[in-house]
Amino acid sequence: MMLLTGGLGYIGSHTAVELLDNDQDVVIVDNLSNSQIDVKDKIQKITGKSIKFYEGDVRDADLMDKIFSENKIDTVIHFAGFKAVGESTKIPIEYYKNNIDSTLVLLEAMKKHNVKNLVFSSSATVYGKAKSMPIFEDFPLSASNPYGRTKLFIEEILKDVHAADPSFNIAILRYFNPVGAHESGIIGENPNGIPNNLMPYITRVATKKLDLLHVFGNDYETHDGTGVRDYIHVCDLAHGHLKAAQKLENNPGLVVYNLGTGTGYSVLDMVKAFESSCKVSVPYVIDERRPGDIDTCFASPEKAEKELGFKATRTLEDMCKSSFNFEVNNK
Ligand code: NAD
Ligand code: UFG
Repeated sequence: MMLLTGGLGYIGSHTAVELLDNDQDVVIVDNLSNSQIDVKDKIQKITGKSIKFYEGDVRDADLMDKIFSENKIDTVIHFAGFKAVGESTKIPIEYYKNNIDSTLVLLEAMKKHNVKNLVFSSSATVYGKAKSMPIFEDFPLSASNPYGRTKLFIEEILKDVHAADPSFNIAILRYFNPVGAHESGIIGENPNGIPNNLMPYITRVATKKLDLLHVFGNDYETHDGTGVRDYIHVCDLAHGHLKAAQKLENNPGLVVYNLGTGTGYSVLDMVKAFESSCKVSVPYVIDERRPGDIDTCFASPEKAEKELGFKATRTLEDMCKSSFNFEVNNK
């Protein structure tokens, strides 16, 4: 049985579907700080299977003790945390408290209940401004904002935990840019307020909830001057978690994988792909650079392919169409 912390969120909900579709039993704990309770029913509707759900905070040690006592958990996938880079610069203490404390409380509960397999949601942000592309897992790590530092610090904590107990198996997954939604159109990314990320902003412009996309800078060193990223379909990403969890069954110790496609697209590539895939227009203006943004970021997906047998298969068109479908369905 697998425990998903933050399992009602964007990536967690798609991973829950992937795991249930592959006959895994799933328990979710989520405090609903960035998700809605109806996602639980939606996951069950898509899969036709039931999940056990605990509403509460991963930092609540008594709750975690109860969850591990009541369920035969063998693997934990730790999604819970705050994730907005800009917000983290305004309320850093909340970010450190939530992301780091939740991990520490979880690790203590796992230790107490002798649960030794953990998959952790890290981010390509830990590579900072990488020296060259594509990015390999052994590149130097750095962070330029509190959110990124929480991921970096947690990775270090996990290395210490593994060093102290080598029988602890940990897969650190460094996600590139997750986009898209489940093909059913009933779960997807649904940020509150004005979206920070590119794809949810595009879908809201395409559905006329927002007027114009602001393209943050067109003077980067890229083929058209706009920022290049490695967008990966969230259902491919979800499959990567299944593969990582399977890998942990063979006691690999601590392992680190990029989850990306290996291909970079610019902001304008994304706009064009969206317009042609979804037959809608996405008006935009060129604006100032967003502070902290880098020119280019894309993964080497080789290690995950070789060691996990994981390869992203969904196309850019799939990413655009499924994002649009979710936005239209969730008016
Ligand atoms: P999300 O906000 O949609 O999901 C996180 C979930 O965790 C939410 O449902 C929220 O309610 C819950 N949560 C937060 N703090 C909690 C706590 N203390 N106790 C219980 N539940 C809590 O985010 P997501 O996009 O699904 O991201 C999942 C993980 O992946 C996060 O750790 C995030 O930092 C990481 N990540 C995300 C991206 C991305 O672009 N989406 C990229 C790299 C890494
Ligand atoms: N962009 C725009 N306009 C927008 C939003 C974004 O032009 O309204 C541009 C950005 O400048 C960047 C690209 O679109 O060039 C992608 O931006 P996102 O905000 O979608 O994604 P980031 O690459 O900045 O960051 C994301 C997550 C981080 C994570 C990082 C690496 O938000 O949490 O990917 O995984 F750390």
